[in-house]
Amino acid sequence: MRNFDFYNPTRIVFGQGRMAEIDRLVPAAARVLILVGGASAEKHGTLAAVRQALGARVHATFAGIEPNPHYETALQAVAQIRAGGFDYLLALGGGSVIDAAKFIAAAELYDGAEPWELVRQRGRSITRALPLGAVLTLPATGSEMNDGGVLTHHARGHKLSFSSPHCFPQWALLDPSLTYTLPPRQLANGVVDAFVHTTEQYLTYPVGGGLQDRFAEGLLLELIDIGPRILAAPAQPDYADRANLMWAASWALNGLIGAGVPQDWATHVIGHEFTALYGIDHGRSLALVLPALLHERRAPKRAKLLQYAQRVWGLTSGDEEARIDAAIARTRDFFEGLGVPTRLSAYGLGAEAVDAVVANLQAHGMVQLGEQREITPEVVRRILLAAL
Ligand code: NZQ
Ligand code: ZN
Repeated sequence: MRNFDFYNPTRIVFGQGRMAEIDRLVPAAARVLILVGGASAEKHGTLAAVRQALGARVHATFAGIEPNPHYETALQAVAQIRAGGFDYLLALGGGSVIDAAKFIAAAELYDGAEPWELVRQRGRSITRALPLGAVLTLPATGSEMNDGGVLTHHARGHKLSFSSPHCFPQWALLDPSLTYTLPPRQLANGVVDAFVHTTEQYLTYPVGGGLQDRFAEGLLLELIDIGPRILAAPAQPDYADRANLMWAASWALNGLIGAGVPQDWATHVIGHEFTALYGIDHGRSLALVLPALLHERRAPKRAKLLQYAQRVWGLTSGDEEARIDAAIARTRDFFEGLGVPTRLSAYGLGAEAVDAVVANLQAHGMVQLGEQREITPEVVRRILLAAL
C-alpha cells in the first residue's frame, strides 16, 4: 500500500425527517444563501422545508444552477452574495448544485480578476472558502462528502474538475426519501456514476491495498444488488434500497477507497468531453466509455480484472481471457439493464464524434490518461471506435 493522507471533515446527518436539524447545523447569526438548480427543489417542497428550518436567519435563494453547472451562472451567485452580504452557503440539490456551491464559496473570497483561474489550476490556488452545508437530493457524485467539483466554462466549452480541502461541505444532510421524486433516468445515472467512481479507484493494478479492494468490492456488489431493483419499480421506492444507494454513492468518492492505491479516471475525463460536446448526462457518458476502456486496457489491468471477475461477478471457470471478457460483458449488461446505453450509436453518434472527443482532449492537454498515463489520444480513439 502506498503512503497516504486521509482527511474527511464532513459531518453526515443521515436519515428521514431530519430537515429541522439544519437549525443546529447552521450558526444562528449566519446570513445564508440557498443555492438550488431548476424547478425540482421548489416543486417537491424541499426548498420550503429548508427555509422553514433556517427560521429567523437572514436568507435568500439563488436558483438556476443548471446540470453540469456553468461558470457563468456561478459568477451570478457570487454577485448576489456580495450584494446581499451573505456569509454561509447552503446547497440544495445534486452534484451540480453542490459542485457549483464549492466553486462559489471559493470564488467569493478570491482576490484575482478572473475566478476561472481557480478551476484552471484545478483548485490548487484555493486558499479559503465560505462555509458550506449541503442537502443532497440525488445520490450519484459523492460531492456531498468530498472536496471536489466540476465546472463548465460554457463560452469555451471546457468542463474541468477542481478540488481543495477548503471545499468540503461542513455538513451534509442525507435523507433517502428525498430521492423518491427522482425520475428513473437520474436514478440510473446515479447507480452508474457511483459504480464507475468505484472502478476508477479499484480496476487499476495491485499495490497490496487489500482493505481498499474489499471496500470497493462491497460497494460494487451492493450497487449490483440494489440498482436493478430500484429501476424495476422507481415509483414504489423502498427506503432501505434508497438509503443504501445514497450511502454507497457517498462512500464511492469520499476518499476512502482511493487512499493509498493507484487511480485511473480516464473514463471520467473522456466522459466529460461527451457531456461538453453533446450534453450527455454525466453518468451516461461513463457507461459509453468504461466497457470499451476495460477491453482496451485488459493487459495492464489484468490482475485486477481477474479479481473483479471472481469477487464481484463470481466468474471462476474458463481461462483467464474468457473470465475477463465475461466480466466486461457483465458490466455492459448491468448498465444496459438499468436503461443506460453503452454504445455511441444509441445517441446517434458515429466516427465524427470520436474525432471531436479526441480533438477536445488534445486541445485540453488531456493526452496521458489512466493510472499508467498510457492512454494517449490514439488509445482513446481505439477505445471509442470500439464503443460505436
Ligand atoms: O435542476 P433541478 O430542477 O433541481 O433538477 C435536477 C437536475 O435536472 C434533478 N434533480 C435533482 N434532485 C432531484 C431532481 N429531480 C427530482 N427529484 C429530486 N430529488 O436531477 C437533474 C440532474 O441533477 P445534477 O445535480 O446535474 O446530477 P448529478 O448529481 O448527477 O450531478 C452531475 C454533476 O456532478 C459532476 C458531474 O460532472 C456533473 O457536472 N460530478 C461531480 C463530482 C464530484 N464533485 O466529486 C464527481 C462526479 O464524477 C461528477 O463528475
Ligand atoms: Zn462521476
